[in-house]
Amino acid sequence: MPALTAFALNGVAVWRWDADNGVRRPILNEIDWHARTGEVWALLGPNGAGKTTLLTVLGAVEFPSSGTVDILGERLGRTDVFRLREQIGFVDSRLGRRFAPELTVAEVVRTGATGTIGLFDERLTAEDRERATAQLATMEIEHLAERRFAVCSHGERTRTLIARALLARPRLLLLDEPGSGLDLGGRETLLGALGRVVVDEPSLTVVLTTHHLEELPPVTTHALLLRDGRIGAAGPADATLTGAALSACFGLDVRVARSAGRWHATATPAATRADLR
Ligand SMILES: Nc1ncnc2c1ncn2[C@@H]1O[C@H](COP(=O)(O)OP(=O)(O)O)[C@@H](O)[C@H]1O
Ligand SMILES: [Mg+2]
Repeated sequence: MPALTAFALNGVAVWRWDADNGVRRPILNEIDWHARTGEVWALLGPNGAGKTTLLTVLGAVEFPSSGTVDILGERLGRTDVFRLREQIGFVDSRLGRRFAPELTVAEVVRTGATGTIGLFDERLTAEDRERATAQLATMEIEHLAERRFAVCSHGERTRTLIARALLARPRLLLLDEPGSGLDLGGRETLLGALGRVVVDEPSLTVVLTTHHLEELPPVTTHALLLRDGRIGAAGPADATLTGAALSACFGLDVRVARSAGRWHATATPAATRADLR
């Protein structure tokens, strides 16, 4: 069976008003990016590179200023974005703040079945409930099921929100910096959980942003490096995550190693090297 296109961006630019300088400036420029169904993409770049903006275009939240965006067979601007968004799971740290403080972890996960922030348990089918329980296990949060979501740690909340997103059976899962702010244990648990999701749902396409190579799950198949709103490199992960490409992306002398499926980076800041001479 031919691999299906999950999304295709052609010549995408996003311009924004820069209030500090009183001008419109491009946040993203000349973005050509194609992904096939089932691929797991890492979107890497320094702070301010445009990762979140690009993710919001993929989530059908933002429209490009120019270029074309096709997501799951629909062209942005010619389709009902509300219906399209139902097929896209979008998880970022802001989402977690929208739930009522009394909801438990299990309840937050169940809101995914209705795609709502409030809980409408009466609308859930028996299958929805079973799948919610299964997602708790996949994300290793079963032991937290009855704990209030609001008091959970950052890592526990992130895994809860991913479980919630998966309950809606998305075809595209977008995770904005899922690993940021996690301690070592939290990060490793998250990476293990993401690995299980990819194995369980082979036709799910995943894009996650990060600025740390150590936060990439071993199941990452592809990578896109973004710098100043432009693509520096994109393609299969091992061919893209090279020292040369990452050095150009981050403006540092980066060395990359891969062991046990994981990537590691070490960097020497250019200024430090100059000082040493
Ligand atoms: N709504 C906006 N209006 C103006 N500038 C924005 C807006 N959103 C983001 N930016 C700017 O666009 C650039 C890219 O931001 P962002 O996509 O959040 O980068 P990243 O996620 O890689 O850190 C930054 O310089 C940011 O200040
Ligand atoms: Mg960001």
